[in-house]
Amino acid sequence: MHTRVLKIPERDLGKFKENEGYEKLKSWEVSQTQSSSLEILHEAAEYLRTKDTPVAFPTETVYGLGADATRSCAVRGIYTAKRRPADNPLIIHISDLDMLRNVLVPVNTTNGTTNGTANGTIKGTTDTVHDRIPEIYKPLIERFWPGPLTILLPNPTPSKLAPEVTAGLKTFGVRMPKSPLALSLIKLTGAPLAAPSANASTKPSPTTAEHVLEDLDGRIELILDGGSCHVGVESTVVDGLCDPPLILRPGGVSIDELRSCAGWEKIEKGYKDQSELGKAAPRAPGMKYKHYSPKAKVVLYEATFAAAKDGVQAEDFEAFVQDRQSQQDLRVGIIRTRYWKPAAGLRCGDFEKRETVKTETTQESQDTSELDVQETALYDTTSGASIGKLMDISIGADTRSIAQGLFSALRELDRRGADIIFVEGTVDDEDIGAAVMNRLRKAATRIRS
Ligand code: TXA
Ligand code: MG
Repeated sequence: MHTRVLKIPERDLGKFKENEGYEKLKSWEVSQTQSSSLEILHEAAEYLRTKDTPVAFPTETVYGLGADATRSCAVRGIYTAKRRPADNPLIIHISDLDMLRNVLVPVNTTNGTTNGTANGTIKGTTDTVHDRIPEIYKPLIERFWPGPLTILLPNPTPSKLAPEVTAGLKTFGVRMPKSPLALSLIKLTGAPLAAPSANASTKPSPTTAEHVLEDLDGRIELILDGGSCHVGVESTVVDGLCDPPLILRPGGVSIDELRSCAGWEKIEKGYKDQSELGKAAPRAPGMKYKHYSPKAKVVLYEATFAAAKDGVQAEDFEAFVQDRQSQQDLRVGIIRTRYWKPAAGLRCGDFEKRETVKTETTQESQDTSELDVQETALYDTTSGASIGKLMDISIGADTRSIAQGLFSALRELDRRGADIIFVEGTVDDEDIGAAVMNRLRKAATRIRS
């Protein structure tokens, strides 16, 4: 299968027509889109309606691997391309609230049509049923959609969604992405798109089209390239159907932001991080799998680890060298956040080779999507002999920039052949720090806490 990467610059995309308040989400207009980009979008939408191989597209969180959520064959194509376990449900992406309301209405089994119209009017009666979107979610929808928040809703029976989407669960996860490209694509397809992250299962999620190509070249036909993702970690998944409501996966919306919404003051953490994992099965099935892992070993320093601010501990480096059983050609990666100095305390030469790895962004805003990679020779502390190479990346001090650069940095160090990556962690309770640390704990082979 030949994989094509098609560029759609964000500046080419039209504006979306918004109304006021909650209903602002009702109608998105793909207007004024530059014709060459619009053609690509139409081609991709047609492909999604008719073919069974998924299409990769950018969202504001990470790249997604999309398929028409109402067609079983198409949804199965996602599991095949990703090599994803079939018991891990997918979330669906909608372009407007009417599309969601339509999914919430059961299919009429006698004539195969919807039992009611999208806005909730039962056919043949004058009754308008209540809006099937549960009240509890309305403040969240108003505040965070379109955006990085996934909510769980009851799946009607019979449902329009292919059973493969929900993997046998009675609920489905849904979000309205913020990316205009994603919204245009869903709108033109005219159906909700099931889309997990567009990486091969267990790899770090992709935040650029190149990352998708690295993992899925030859396994899919179309990758829409809209530049790099602004958030960089996946959406927050919440369950408001239980009391108290639960956060099932930390992500691009923080727990504090959720807590400030009416009805969500008592939200609890419904997931366990690696360090706390007991025998209990996680509520979001995807949380139990190995995830986000580069080929290199990852040693994570928790921000709470007393010596964390000093950099890499000598004994950790010794342990790595012993493990490698060699003092030659070592390739050591460093990912720094707030406190670590370049090289994180390891002995090395001057950082003469400095490179900015540009991940092309089509956004005209100030978003940085550049990785500053510095390479230098690494020396043995006692003999002074050169023993390999050090690759050092700083991804910023605040949790938003750490989130944006994290997966890129892990992938970049893998590309450069790192044997081990030492990572400076951040604190859980600052903004989206919980999401960053959750991903890092899953990627880590060893956690220093
Ligand atoms: O930001 C995102 O959410 C990205 C982009 C592409 O939108 N998508 C994404 O999808 O991360 P995925 O499939 O990789 O992750 C969805 C998570 C998984 O942990 C899954 O187990 C959980 O949501 N999930 C989906 N449906 C669920 C359900 N009905 N009940 C509980 N957990 C569910
Ligand atoms: Mg994923």
